[in-house]
Parts: sequence; C-alpha cells; structure tokens
Amino acid sequence: MNKDLFFQKFGCECNRIYRAPGRINLIGEHIDYNGGIVLPCAISKYTYLYVSIRSDDIIHIASTNFNNSIERSINNLEYDRSLDWSIYAFGAFYILQSNGYKITKGLNILIDSNIPMGSGLSSSASLIDAMLYMANDIFKFNIDKIDLIKYAKDVENVYCHIQTGIMDQASIMLGEENKAILLDCKTLNYEYVNALLDDYSFAILQTNVQRKLIESKYNDRVDECNRALEIIKKNYKDVNYLADLSVNDLNNIERLLNDSVLFRRVKHVITEQQRVYDFKDALAKMDYQLLGKLLNESHESLKNDYEVTGIYLDTICDIARHHAIGARMVGAGFGGCAIALVKTSEFELFKEEVIKKYQESFGIKANVYCVSITSGPIKVEGEDK
Ligand code: GLA
Repeated sequence: MNKDLFFQKFGCECNRIYRAPGRINLIGEHIDYNGGIVLPCAISKYTYLYVSIRSDDIIHIASTNFNNSIERSINNLEYDRSLDWSIYAFGAFYILQSNGYKITKGLNILIDSNIPMGSGLSSSASLIDAMLYMANDIFKFNIDKIDLIKYAKDVENVYCHIQTGIMDQASIMLGEENKAILLDCKTLNYEYVNALLDDYSFAILQTNVQRKLIESKYNDRVDECNRALEIIKKNYKDVNYLADLSVNDLNNIERLLNDSVLFRRVKHVITEQQRVYDFKDALAKMDYQLLGKLLNESHESLKNDYEVTGIYLDTICDIARHHAIGARMVGAGFGGCAIALVKTSEFELFKEEVIKKYQESFGIKANVYCVSITSGPIKVEGEDK
C-alpha cells in the first residue's frame, strides 16, 4: 500500500525500504544525562522509510502522517523553521555533511511510522536513527554504530536545539531481539542482558495525554542536576557526574546541598542508578517479584523526588498494579507511556481493566498492548541487500 502511495507522491517506484524501532527503558530514568547506566530495549513499533535515489540534488520528503511534502537541495540543508515536521529527517543529512560525509545524490523518502508521536516511545530518535542508517547504507559511508549514535544525538541537540541524553538514540541503534541493553551513557560501552521472560510480559500503557511543557521541565531538571553537581564536586574531587555517587553518600550530600529540591533530584539519580544494577540481577534470576518492586520504586522516586510523572501516569500505574506486579512511567515523563510487568496469561483481563478504570477516571481511552523486544535498524527490502 505504501509503495502505491510512494508512486503517487513521487511518480516513481520505491526501491528500498528501511526500518528503525522505537524503545522503552526498563529502568534507569533521567540517568543518561547524569552519566549513568541505563537498561533500555528496542521495541516492535517502527519508523519505515520508503526510498528511491534521484538523479538530481533534491531531497524530497513526505510522510503518511502529514499532507504536505518538503524539498531541499543537498546544498542547502541549514535549519529553518519551515522544515516543520521534517527537521529530524533533514537534520540527519545536515549532521552527516558537517562531519565530512558527502551526500552525492538526491532522494525521495516516504516516512511511515506506527510509533505514537509524543508518547515517550522515542518516535523522533527512531526517525533520526532510520535516516542515518539509510544514508550510511546508500552512500556506503561505513560509519560504525557508535558514531551513528553520536551523530543522532547531534541531530537533536545541535540541529534541532532539543536537549536530550543519548539513551534513546543508542537503544534504538543497538537493539537486539529479546535483549535489554545495559548501556553506560558516559562511555557508550554496553552489554546485552536477556529480557525474554518465561511467564511475564512488559505491557505498554499509553495514557494518550500529550506531554505538556515537556521541554522546559526537562531542561529544568538538567539544570537542577548540573547545579547540584557543581556544589558536590567541590567536596568530592573524583565525582564528574551525579551517577558516580552511591547510596552511602546520601546523608552527606543532603547536608552539603542544604536544599530540599536539589537533594531530592540527586536522591532520585543515586537510588535509580542502584535500581538499575538490582534490576539486572533480578532479570538474570527471573525474580519477578523483585522486578515488579523495582519498577514501582522507580515510579515513586520519579513522582516524589524527581517530580516528572503527573496525574495521568500516576493513575494509570496505580490501576495497572491491581493485576501487574509493577508499573512505571517511561521516557521523559509528564504524560506519554508507562510500562507494566504482567503475567502473560492475565494480559487480556489486565488490559480490559486498565482501559475501563482509566476511562472512568479521565474520560480518555488508553491504549494497552504488548510489544516484542527487537533488533535495531535494518534494510527490509532493496538493492544490494
Ligand atoms: C527522554 C530523553 C532521554 C532521557 C529520558 C529520560 O527520553 O530523550 O535522553 O533523558 O527522557 O530518561
């Protein structure tokens, strides 16, 4: 169907298809920009790119989500507001060019994504990773995954002027079937951890509330963490990031900061980092009760200490816990999605109850579904496959 749409939009056949997944973070939230270790995985929701190579220098981009299409010459990819929804896509080419990679031909690209936008499942990082992966393949740049991840982050931070850590771009690029990625956000070293559970599944609970004020609040948290770090560094010479601290430092840090807001932010980072290690061990032992407890503790910490959850995420997690052994918000927060650990055999009952009770609370229909843990970007179809 999208091949027909491609033909309608561009008047030629699509001859390559690529896809990149979305992501959830199992645990380790708001840890990446604090130099810590996170545990995300790529999920079976995808951004697809339908592509053909042109003979001129135009990059022409259309999307199944938007009516208009946008064109730019490869010699004029500077950021400008009229790029609108296509900034992430053009940003990928721009960042490649600014790192010395020559885009030698124009392209027609149709974007089709089933990752809900603004829902905390990283639809934008998925689009950026898909674009970089596709350009790397078509123009044979031979860029390794770690550099692609760094470029993807530059697309968000440098080109789009959006502050993010590196977790989303990395977890999508490094995705592996049934594996979570234990990723050190300082070094980008990583190891895979089995995340295929015997009797349980991770369910996604989509609040269907757009994340409001997300950018400004996200930036506030980054600033608060940086302010706290400056104070702490004066006394802890070896500490370069908040995630370098341990739970044993908490009492001392509280005295040192003498500021309840800053202390609670740091407390979240330190305790959340510990939960990542505990979660990894619990996964290895398939200790479901402990996994559930850690998910709940993570959410409480994000609610009370980091203050990024909000009424919709809090309520959907409370409802989920009637059947699930644990639930927590994922991503930046302030709306978007939560995940829950639920017995696979009880999933249908769980889903019915969450949708019903959430609807009763807010008059909003939530989406509840299971996903599988999947691989990073691939070429689905096309020449020199
Ligand atoms: C957003 C950012 C990530 C990360 C999470 C919170 O998804 O893009 O870099 O900071 O929030 O863990």
